[in-house]
Amino acid sequence: MSDLHLALAGVGRIGAMHARHLVSTPGVGRLTVADADAGRAREVASALGADWAPDTAALLARGVDGLLVATGTAQHPELIAAGVRAGVPVLCEKPVAPDVASSLPVLELVEAAGGVVRIGHQRRFDAGYREARRAHAAGELGWLHAVRATTCDAAPPPVAFLATSGGLFRDCSVHDFDVLRWTTGREVVEVTARGSNNGDPAIGRVGDVDTALAVCTLDDGTLAVVTASRYNGAGHDVRLELQGSLGTLVVGLDERSALRSAEPGATFPAGPAHTTFAERFADAYRAEVAAFADLVRGTAGPADDLCTLADAVAAARVADAAQESLRSGAPVRLDAPVAVP
Ligand SMILES: NC(=O)c1ccc[n+]([C@@H]2O[C@H](COP(=O)([O-])OP(=O)(O)OC[C@H]3O[C@@H](n4cnc5c(N)ncnc54)[C@H](O)[C@@H]3O)[C@@H](O)[C@H]2O)c1
Repeated sequence: MSDLHLALAGVGRIGAMHARHLVSTPGVGRLTVADADAGRAREVASALGADWAPDTAALLARGVDGLLVATGTAQHPELIAAGVRAGVPVLCEKPVAPDVASSLPVLELVEAAGGVVRIGHQRRFDAGYREARRAHAAGELGWLHAVRATTCDAAPPPVAFLATSGGLFRDCSVHDFDVLRWTTGREVVEVTARGSNNGDPAIGRVGDVDTALAVCTLDDGTLAVVTASRYNGAGHDVRLELQGSLGTLVVGLDERSALRSAEPGATFPAGPAHTTFAERFADAYRAEVAAFADLVRGTAGPADDLCTLADAVAAARVADAAQESLRSGAPVRLDAPVAVP
């Protein structure tokens, strides 16, 4: 196949970043973008030498080879369906849909149509998470007794965004739930969650928490703790600890970790701290869209490493369970994983 013509729907916060990465992805010859705000699509396209279309129907009518969806979550199902109907592979930002119930019809549609759809969980392309998965699979850590995952933003996003985000576990910790499954190869069978609101009271007024913790039990009995906060003024702090009988491996512990040591004389980490998800995971996002280009071109090989729809829904099921436990205060058991192709 000659150079690819890829389409990108939605060029807001993360879509504009994907557009920048796509125009420098090897083998991508042409990029056309669309946004509900046509002025924004034109602006992003002209800054990058890309093309733009007035809407997503016009975008798909341009004979594109693949579609990347980076609109708000509410539009994901209809745009995944549009891409599948157009017969092109789709990479859609996480999550598939606002919750699991609204994700299941997407799964059914894609299965019935034989569509090729992947979901954006970029940590699967981060060097540290990949090493954690490899080291655990190779037995280098022994057996795991505990897993600790944390995601802390430097500052909260706008409250208007939080009001529609589905909650901290669905919006933020879903990345941790995905890599928890992906690095350990285990399913989460029970979740107990708690949350707090010691920051801006407006976050509580829209029904969300600014900080949360979920205790997860994996199907082999291993315990995992997933924490998240909107308030880590020192920077964007994302870590995973796999604690094993032979030793502990830490993802996200380097000179740019957004934390400091309490030990006298310690100068590690020297900084500057990571600031945002876009900066912390820039290489992973680039590798993710490059993997999608390989998938579209047909050169990806049997395991393309992109998150499948089934895996994205499995992570969303844990997030839904955590939101439910946060609401009820009780542990929530997860049923058998959803069977999909
Ligand atoms: N993987 C990650 O790390 C990560 C990080 C941030 C956001 N996200 C996900 O990415 C998605 C977008 O988030 P964001 O922060 O960029 O949102 P955003 O609001 O900044 O951007 C969304 C854009 O989509 C456009 N849009 C809405 N409906 C459209 C339609 N029908 N056709 C074309 N464009 C349309 C909007 O005009 C807007 O420009 C969300 O689903 C979010 O969960 C993922």
